[in-house]
Amino acid sequence: MKDLKSNRRSFLGKAAKIAGLLSVANLPVLRAEVQHKGVADDPEHKFLTKPYLQNPLHGEITVRFMTNKPTYSWVKYGLDESLKSSAETVKLGLVEANNRIHAITLRNLEPGKKYYYKVLSKDFFEYKPYDVVFGNTIESEMYSFTAPDMKKEEFSMLVLNDIHERPDAIEQHIGLHGNAPLDMVFFNGDIFNFQTDENQIIEKMIDPCTASFATHKPFLFVRGNHETRGKFARRLPDYFDNIDHAPYFTFSRGSTFFICLDSGEDKADNHKQYFGLAAFDAYREKQAEWLEQQLESEAYKKAKYRIVLIHIPLYHFHRDPPGVAHCRKVFGPLLNKYKIDLMISGHTHRYGFHEAEKGRHNYPIMIGGGPNLGTRTQIHVVVDKEKLAVVMKKDDGEVLHRYEVKG
Ligand SMILES: [Fe+2]
Repeated sequence: MKDLKSNRRSFLGKAAKIAGLLSVANLPVLRAEVQHKGVADDPEHKFLTKPYLQNPLHGEITVRFMTNKPTYSWVKYGLDESLKSSAETVKLGLVEANNRIHAITLRNLEPGKKYYYKVLSKDFFEYKPYDVVFGNTIESEMYSFTAPDMKKEEFSMLVLNDIHERPDAIEQHIGLHGNAPLDMVFFNGDIFNFQTDENQIIEKMIDPCTASFATHKPFLFVRGNHETRGKFARRLPDYFDNIDHAPYFTFSRGSTFFICLDSGEDKADNHKQYFGLAAFDAYREKQAEWLEQQLESEAYKKAKYRIVLIHIPLYHFHRDPPGVAHCRKVFGPLLNKYKIDLMISGHTHRYGFHEAEKGRHNYPIMIGGGPNLGTRTQIHVVVDKEKLAVVMKKDDGEVLHRYEVKG
């Protein structure tokens, strides 16, 4: 009986190996449809999202996407549709595999050139320590993007805030922007109400982004106070790549230096709604130390224009909860000490433009609107050789404010 069992195991093992060899060498590559539901239960290997572009650096971009099964995934790309290059992620000597949330960085791209790409995934029939049997390979359709050129003088960015889970608003904003130049989109917080699960991230943000722009233009995303709430809040960074993969960061585009801050929660850390699970004061204090280093950096000094992006405005919020006061305490004096051209915020759900007030805030503050139709705004930042121009528009296209600085 023992022998029969062991013979059967040996036969099944060999059969699986043969199937594995066949799968790697011969199984056809399947064009996969994007499908969200049934992550765990669906036996068919599928993409859960279209690819979305992140972390634009000079000649570099990160392609993200999700699959319903753990896979080995890669990107094929090139200057024409023959896609002669390929990229995968390697960490600590291991090629990334057996994962569902994919982030693959394409490097050494020619800045300003158009690239074509596809994403591919291969699942596993078996993944044992000494016996890996691959399953089916699926591939996306063909997409394209322009390789980021961080040194180019001209730059165009759309800033969106406080969408609060209205996916149609994302597509509406991109439609309103139309064919105007666009290098990237910046989400300035409160795109969600709170974090529940992965499906929410896909349906409320990734899908409307890929449907309207994110397969071919990158976006950055700094959280607002609402993204710090809910049981899935701690998993949010698994799905996005900002510059240097950081929650707060700076970057230069042409002659402009952008400072992107994470203002955290707006109430006190010991507020009863946080149940002892918030520690934002210490987080902001550490961030302020980092901010001072950024304001002393060569990149800051040689920039013609400096813009701060932060979800909670330090001033002009009709209430003043302790989290907001703490933002003002740790960031305010630093931003007043160094020259800042403009702060762009959201959070209040009341759009407005507030001129500089010497000694209070030495720079103007532009605050984007709220989530509902009629109060939504988009803020278009354009830099060229002569000037920085920032235009805030309402969702019906009405220009609410224009701000310009000549270089
Ligand atoms: Fe907010």
